[in-house]
Amino acid sequence: QNRLIIDTDIGSDIDDAMALALAMKSKEIIIEGITTVYGNAELRARITKKLLQLGNQKNIKVFAGVSQSLLFNRDIWMAGHEGEGILTEDEHIEYDSGHAVDFIIQTIMKNPGEITLIAIGPLTNIATAIIREPSIVKNVKEIIIMGGVTRLGDNSLTLPINEHNIRCDPEAASIVFSSKAPICMVGLDVTYKVTFTKFHRDQLENSKTPLNLALVNQLDRWFAFIKEDITKMHDPLTVSIAINRDIVKTEKAKVHVEYDHRQMTGTTIAIPDKSGNVEICLDVDSRRFNNILLRRLLDE
Ligand code: BDR
Ligand code: CA
Repeated sequence: QNRLIIDTDIGSDIDDAMALALAMKSKEIIIEGITTVYGNAELRARITKKLLQLGNQKNIKVFAGVSQSLLFNRDIWMAGHEGEGILTEDEHIEYDSGHAVDFIIQTIMKNPGEITLIAIGPLTNIATAIIREPSIVKNVKEIIIMGGVTRLGDNSLTLPINEHNIRCDPEAASIVFSSKAPICMVGLDVTYKVTFTKFHRDQLENSKTPLNLALVNQLDRWFAFIKEDITKMHDPLTVSIAINRDIVKTEKAKVHVEYDHRQMTGTTIAIPDKSGNVEICLDVDSRRFNNILLRRLLDE
């Protein structure tokens, strides 16, 4: 079994919630704890705790982390409907006491070579943990990061210049990528190929489980926000890689993060290099991914 800490900015986009639900439903995974990051990290911790309750996993610990970008120099983006489909209004939900960064450091240091960090939000908590305890870099099994874009994969995709998780805290991302920690980079090059549609949504709704109904409720708010009925499954792809590595094709590289040029801030530059610390994902078997995600959410 793969022992995970999931660091998330769950809230507006549905994919963090889907990633957590997939992890909850996967026997290959032990969730050691969940940490939240970026903007209202306390609200994100409450949303997470509620999702765990809906999935009958009340005992998993949830810790709130850093709210600002590392240098306090980046705007915080919030959509406004964070968690509304999951938390009911005025619901009192407690999360665990203690700081996300302490939990990350302590768990990795107590279990050398055992813990995989799944990073599906801006990298502020993880960079802070590395600053505070640099030796986590040698003791973490791997950091699987949803973030960035390399354009070394399928050239037919039209990809944006930079990606949200890196753009929100490029200084933190730079610290993490240059730390020499073993990283698997799941960028837009592959996450643009994995989607969730209204058709999938209806299957979740028909299952009528409390967890799936909450996911559908939050998904509907996201669909209304983006004015579409198809969305990308960026974050669940990281979890499905922790379940089955074979669904992606990767190549070793070194990755540089731009943070000090106005136009290029938040871009990731990957240089293929066999001695690099980053395995970048170049391609994904999206059919197999969809199978993993749906089958497990539907308990099939
Ligand atoms: C990333 O940004 C967030 O909106 C998603 O949850 C994902 O982690 C995609 O760029
Ligand atoms: Ca996310």
